[in-house]
Amino acid sequence: MRIGLIGAGAVAPYHCAAAAELDGVELTAVCDIDEGAARRAATGSSGAVVFTDHRRMLEAGVVDAVIVNTPHATHLPIGVDVAAAGAHVMVEKPMATTLEDCDRLVAACESAGVALTVGHIQHYLPEKVAAQHVLAAGELGAVRMVRDNRSTDYRPGTRSPWFFSPDIAGGGALMNIGGHCLDRSLWFGGGRAVEMLATTVNRFGSPVETDGAMMLRLDNGVAASIVVVSDPATRSDLVTVVCDDGVIEIDPRHGTTVHTDGRSQLVHRTRPSDIQSAFTAQLADFQRVVGGAAPTVPLAHARHVVELVLAAYRSAAEGSALLFADADALT
Ligand SMILES: NC(=O)c1ccc[n+]([C@@H]2O[C@H](COP(=O)([O-])OP(=O)(O)OC[C@H]3O[C@@H](n4cnc5c(N)ncnc54)[C@H](O)[C@@H]3O)[C@@H](O)[C@H]2O)c1
Repeated sequence: MRIGLIGAGAVAPYHCAAAAELDGVELTAVCDIDEGAARRAATGSSGAVVFTDHRRMLEAGVVDAVIVNTPHATHLPIGVDVAAAGAHVMVEKPMATTLEDCDRLVAACESAGVALTVGHIQHYLPEKVAAQHVLAAGELGAVRMVRDNRSTDYRPGTRSPWFFSPDIAGGGALMNIGGHCLDRSLWFGGGRAVEMLATTVNRFGSPVETDGAMMLRLDNGVAASIVVVSDPATRSDLVTVVCDDGVIEIDPRHGTTVHTDGRSQLVHRTRPSDIQSAFTAQLADFQRVVGGAAPTVPLAHARHVVELVLAAYRSAAEGSALLFADADALT
């Protein structure tokens, strides 16, 4: 599979290394409107051609599949162009910035007969996968609550300027980082959300939210609380899953711990290679989907994450909880 990468920014090295690691995959093109960025990302992939316009890359006939790794609002138009050129699409999270755009992307890929996956990396991170294995084994009983505490940094200047544009980013800390939290909280919680109460905070003079909280109830009764805080003294990335018969704590700085009846067991110890191995597993999944397999992350799940971020913005603006009679009413 000849892969093209569109968008050669912060995450590009992980995608490029994933392509280099996998058998049957070759990075043949890198495109970025910043030619220097494209050249830097292409270094190490001998033969990868550099482009500054994704349409030229698609016309050149050098790719079978594309990773769309660009600012959020461009995921749809670029993804549609890729599909129209007959190439398979793996789009970074979030799937798009509106539900209409999510649906258009799915429709474009379906009508072109190409595969589509969304890069929800949480599903591939070894410490998260270890937790999911524990849950699937069933020894801890039912999941009751998920608590997700995540720090970030939304002080202007800390990331590319487009992240602070409501139109291009589709939102701030909740759309970007909160999307990861929603992804994993829904996954561990095992359901779709039926209730959302959210708060957003704009600090540092930012036009998008820098902090936010989301309280969710899932259709299976699980409660999830997600709090994203910018620039605290203590950095955190801790997910706590409370089950009937034990508690799982997942923290990429340490690993995954299962605590039952006064005893702790480390079921995954963090390794320096964990993040790269997740990107490689994610690309391998895309490769399998191109071959006809079902994706690890269903498109409906990726769409639901966008739906919930947008619901959080509405809840925060209205200052009240959004209640949904059933999960489908959210759509
Ligand atoms: N999976 C993860 O853990 C993870 C982490 C960070 C970011 N992301 C996601 O990855 C995507 C990219 O984020 P980033 O942090 O790399 O951003 P970035 O700003 O570092 O890089 C984006 C790149 O896209 C280029 N670009 C913009 N418009 C383009 C266009 N039309 N054609 C070609 N190139 C274009 C920019 O020049 C820039 O080099 C986003 O969707 C983001 O949410 C995922």
